[in-house]
Order: sequence, then C-alpha cells, then structure tokens
Amino acid sequence: MEIVRLSTLDDWADTVAARFTARLAARPAPRLCLATGNTPLPLYDRCVAAVRAGAASFRDAEAFLLDEFGGVPREAEGRCEQMLRRALIDQVDLPAARFHTIDTDAADLEAICRQYEAAVGTLDLTLLGIGTNGHIGMNEPGAPPDSLTRRVDLSDETQRSATHYFGGRHTPTWGVTAGMATVLRSREIWLLATGSSKAAILRRLMTEPVSPLLPASLLRQHPRCILFCDDAAAAELPPAPPRPA
Ligand code: GLP
Repeated sequence: MEIVRLSTLDDWADTVAARFTARLAARPAPRLCLATGNTPLPLYDRCVAAVRAGAASFRDAEAFLLDEFGGVPREAEGRCEQMLRRALIDQVDLPAARFHTIDTDAADLEAICRQYEAAVGTLDLTLLGIGTNGHIGMNEPGAPPDSLTRRVDLSDETQRSATHYFGGRHTPTWGVTAGMATVLRSREIWLLATGSSKAAILRRLMTEPVSPLLPASLLRQHPRCILFCDDAAAAELPPAPPRPA
C-alpha cells in the first residue's frame, strides 16, 4: 500500500481532489464507487468547485454508492444516499441515471444485492473511509475476504458513530454494503483517513498482520491501493523506511 501523507486537511483535500479529477478525465467512462461518512466531504467540496469552474466533469462517469444504512427513513439526512447527494451528486454534472444507489427498503434485499453486484462489474476507482475498528464500507471485523454485496449487522461501535450522521435521531443497526471481494476487484482503491481519531486504527492497519479481523488490512494486498492521510491521522504510523540512495 502506497502512503501519501499531507500535512494539513487543506493540503490533503487539494491533493486528493487534484488526483481524483485527473482520474475522471483520464478514462472515457470511469466507474467509481464512492464512500460517504465525514472524511470525503472536503474532497467532494473541491470536486464540486472544480466542476463549477469547468475544470472537471462527471458527465461520462458511472457512480455507485458504497453502502447504505437500513431500517431508517429514506429521507433521513444520515442515509448514505442523502449524504452523497448533498455533498456531491446533486451539485455536479453526473447524469441522474448513472448514480446507482442501494434500496435497503426493498422487500427482496437479496435481489437488490445481486443486481448491485452485477451492475458494479469491475470498478476503476473505489474511495473508502475507515472505521475506528478497521471496517471498510460496512464490512465489519470478520467480514470474509470473498464476500459480495450483502446485508450486514453493524457493530456497536459503528452504530454509535452512525447515529451522528442522523443528528442522534436514528441509530441504524444494519446496512447493505459492497462486499470485500467487490471492493478488492476494483482496479484502484484510495483509502481516505484524516484527523486524530483515525491515528490508532492507521497504526494497527500498517503494523498488524493482514487479517479479516481488520478488514482494511486486506487492502495491503491490493496492487494499486493508496492511503491518503493527513499528519493528524498519520501520527502513530511507524516511520517510513529510508529511500534507497
Ligand atoms: C461509516 C461508513 C463508512 C465510512 C466510515 C468512516 O460507518 N459506513 O463508509 O467510511 O464509517 O466514517 P467517517 O469518515 O465519518 O469517519
């Protein structure tokens, strides 16, 4: 896993956004999987500004929501779809039909998961955040490396974090997530981590053995995964080995 460390949150957002918009331009029809949570918000702000300035476009992109909470009202502010629409989708030029959400209200969830998995195919770029317990998407510790898109129960820790997205009004206990195998199939993966609350999990990510008990550690075996972090999140990382002379 390549590590790109930026000193401040502003540097982090500028750098990731510049690389992201370059990726958008590089492929004729980029297939993206997009995380929600708070971490990517400064990046999405920069993307919106770039599109408004005519410097980037989602015109030819295909965007898939990484995960979605279940058992909470469809319009609730903390639903992943609502978060991503507010932060990015509704403010850029992505054609509406090319934003793929996950309908956790559907009666037949297994069919929804199968349809999502088939539609995703091979992603060009997946953006991930990381939970303080090492989850990616809603793949909690113990998620099988070969797992596909499916319904999952959320750990107590994830439920406690998730309730903030809903202003404390709802606490989701389950969700549907792109699976570990779905994510690992992506040609490129960017793991995003900022702030001191991610320092301990980044240390674990880079120092503990690769194991499904720490789902993000499986990303270390991916040929094209980059961790983008700021100094606060990187504070507990072991020092980088010296570059060869
Ligand atoms: C949440 C989401 C993840 C997100 C992660 C980190 O539970 N399911 O997709 O990446 O936890 O969230 P945040 O960026 O708000 O710290």
